[in-house]
Amino acid sequence: MALQGLHLYPFFIILLLLLSIIIIIPSYDCLQGDTLNHYLEEEEEGGGEAFGYDSQAYPSYFSPIEDGQFKDFIKLRSTNVLNLKIFDKVGSIPTSVKTVSVDDFRANSNDIDDAEAFQKAWVEACSSKGAVLVVPKNRYLVKPVRFSGPCKSNLTVRIYGTIEASDDRSDYEKDDRRHWLVFDQVQNLLVEGGGTIDGNGKIWWKNSCKVDKDLPCKDAPTALTFHKCQNLVVDNLKIQNAQQMHLSFQSSKDVQVSNLIVTSPKDSPNTDGIHVTHTQNIQITNSVIATGDDCISIASGSQNVQAMDITCGPGHGISIGSLGSGNSRAYVSGVTIDGAKLSGTSNGVRIKTWQGGSGIASNIKFQNIEMQNVSNPIIIDQYYCDNHKSCKEQRSAIQVKNVVYKNIKGTSASNVAIKFDCSKTYPCQGILMQDVILEREAGDHKAKALCNNVNLAEMGVVSPHCP
Ligand SMILES: *[C@@H]1O[C@H](CO)[C@@H](O)[C@H](O)[C@H]1NC(C)=O
Ligand SMILES: *[C@@H]1O[C@H](CO)[C@@H](O)[C@H](O)[C@H]1NC(C)=O
Repeated sequence: MALQGLHLYPFFIILLLLLSIIIIIPSYDCLQGDTLNHYLEEEEEGGGEAFGYDSQAYPSYFSPIEDGQFKDFIKLRSTNVLNLKIFDKVGSIPTSVKTVSVDDFRANSNDIDDAEAFQKAWVEACSSKGAVLVVPKNRYLVKPVRFSGPCKSNLTVRIYGTIEASDDRSDYEKDDRRHWLVFDQVQNLLVEGGGTIDGNGKIWWKNSCKVDKDLPCKDAPTALTFHKCQNLVVDNLKIQNAQQMHLSFQSSKDVQVSNLIVTSPKDSPNTDGIHVTHTQNIQITNSVIATGDDCISIASGSQNVQAMDITCGPGHGISIGSLGSGNSRAYVSGVTIDGAKLSGTSNGVRIKTWQGGSGIASNIKFQNIEMQNVSNPIIIDQYYCDNHKSCKEQRSAIQVKNVVYKNIKGTSASNVAIKFDCSKTYPCQGILMQDVILEREAGDHKAKALCNNVNLAEMGVVSPHCP
């Protein structure tokens, strides 16, 4: 009897293994997708921070089959990551298209404020069956405006001229200090034309708590915001001197951004170039961004974000985060930065999370990146703290996992070219470096890597190495 039992023992183990593979593998994808979707839904409903979220529940479904998923992710060709419905520029404008010019609504060309003309022109275009809203090659001074949808049909906004923001801060106090130009809930929208959007931000920069430490920290407007837009194309524009962020995509879906030139002085505070939050399927290509803060920042709720052929500098580089501030939950997944040149930026490619947050940042790929005199070329900072005071130690953290750094070359302005400062309680998982070569820009010291709590694999030539 005892002998028979022994014989059966291996069979039981094999059976158990098979069963667990059958059960765990399909439920994994499902679980992960559900978690994110569930989270996004909650956020949409305005839940946000209020929902209790047990970060401790995560490790149970991380580990067993992570490797397989990770390999699949690496295999993903970047072109497959996004499956955007490409906005057919020619096809999207029916032949019966109506042209509405903001000049049609201007009382006289010396108006001190053109917001009203813009608003009226928008209402006309938005309620037409197919329209092009034109901003001719003039200079327009504009107070905050909200272009609200939904519109009757597809819409093109063609900006040829210069739209300049009012620099009277009281113009923004009325209802919303955080936005200047907003497109809200518009579908099938194309914004293009080669014109300029100028936030006229000097007055805001001067009054920022980052510049004048005695002042209280207050919000300043984002120059151009797209909120809850779907099927959106933003092409060929100059956006400059934003009051705070230049361009923000919030709770939007299926977005293509291309051929932008985004500029402001390198000492202008919080002037992120392109900010992405709670947005799914967004592709940013062929753009030049030189500002005082992040070149591209990707915040919580973002999924399938692709940036290609991006030139950054000066500024703070390309950043995922910051995530998890104020003990919040955050999810970011499926970010590919493919083809970027960063020069003179304070960071290259960065993932930054606050202590005390929860959630996951996963499936992130940085590849084909050239660094020129970048202070922190590769950095994961899970102890990010942007407060006046230092941040106290907390156990909870965002889990960072499955991050690929591939073909990254160039020079570091500091001794530390690679810094993985991962959470003690949630070490970084599945970090892969392949063909990464970073040298010191100048000086006798060799570039080095600082690595804490990181689960790292290397392929090809990697220099410097973690100690
Ligand atoms: C509106 O845009 C959508 C998405 O780009 C496109 O599929 C559709 O054909 C357009 N409609 C018209 C009437 O052009
Ligand atoms: C590199 O960056 C450092 C610090 O930002 C700066 O002081 C130095 O002048 C830069 N070197 C070059 C060659 O641009």
